[in-house]
Amino acid sequence: MKEDKIILAIESSCDETACAIIKNEELLANVISSQIEVHQKYGGVMPEIASRLHLENILYVIDDALSKANIKLEEVSAFAITRGPGLIGALHVGLQAIKTLALIYNKPIIPVHHLAGHIYANEFVSPLKFPCLAIVVSGGNTELVYMKEHLDFKVIGETKDDAIGESFDKVARVMGLPYPGGVAIDKLAKLGKHTYKLPTLMHDGTLNISYSGLKTAVINLVHKEEQNGKKINVNDLARSVLDVAVDELLLRVKKATSEYDVKQIVLAGGVSANSYLRSEITRIYDGSNIEVIIPPLWCTTDNAAMIAKVASYLYDKKIFAPLSLSVDPSWKIEDYLKF
Ligand code: KG4
Repeated sequence: MKEDKIILAIESSCDETACAIIKNEELLANVISSQIEVHQKYGGVMPEIASRLHLENILYVIDDALSKANIKLEEVSAFAITRGPGLIGALHVGLQAIKTLALIYNKPIIPVHHLAGHIYANEFVSPLKFPCLAIVVSGGNTELVYMKEHLDFKVIGETKDDAIGESFDKVARVMGLPYPGGVAIDKLAKLGKHTYKLPTLMHDGTLNISYSGLKTAVINLVHKEEQNGKKINVNDLARSVLDVAVDELLLRVKKATSEYDVKQIVLAGGVSANSYLRSEITRIYDGSNIEVIIPPLWCTTDNAAMIAKVASYLYDKKIFAPLSLSVDPSWKIEDYLKF
């Protein structure tokens, strides 16, 4: 009889302490302890506080996942961990926990790339089909990742400066909106009209993008309106910002699908929760021969289920790390085998 494949995964790269357990591809537990309310007070994630909270929460999260899954630690086949990218101190907490478990139970460690996790989160909805174009959009990353097959990642376009989520967070701060700014902008944009003229983003003819100009344009616009004694209409500004940011991203996506053979598009990362992005990408490819997968909202935020999902593929290929494994806060997805 084939032995069960049981993977326990931890995700602690930013402000969510999470543990998930999968058994032969079935998700048995997916526990997430979010720190967002603490960081909201500071208007963004405070790295030092994130590390301390991971340290406080991690064993409870593991314990909770084990009891929900009804699994004992000695039954686990391998321990998986987000190795990067992310906040260095936060990553260390998860890695140390996983190393300890791997040592005690004499089981392999599987290092997982955080963005690979976001891409593979889509497999909880539908299997990836290749060639696949993953639109990876979060607070730290904006990348178009082309995959010819499983675990084959090629970055064909990326931001040259700010990530799309980062630009939403910065713009929102200028507009006096709460963190995370992307969520606030998404909500307000639904009530507004595209009345503010913002410059289109710099285009160098490639699939790359640059969001820093958008933030500068909004800062200048807000200051100018203030100097003229005018009040900003936040709903209209949110609508205008969101339209520019998403439409420009989608221009690159359309260019990518015209240049590359693509069977499926998947959205990945925190910004994939955005309602305008979700509806536009569906509309654009409706009736085409490219399938679009929209991840459920729980897959768009950080979780360990997506880490376990990637780990399961790595387990089959026996891609394991030594106990000396270290984290990499700026690990590139194309280097996912280098650790
Ligand atoms: O992937 P994520 O949880 O964290 C990392 O950056 O790894 O993404 C968080 C980012 C934040 O910048 C937040 O403003 C943005 O995702 N975000 C959104 C929405 N929900 C979260 N941006 C636009 N619309 C949303 N609905």
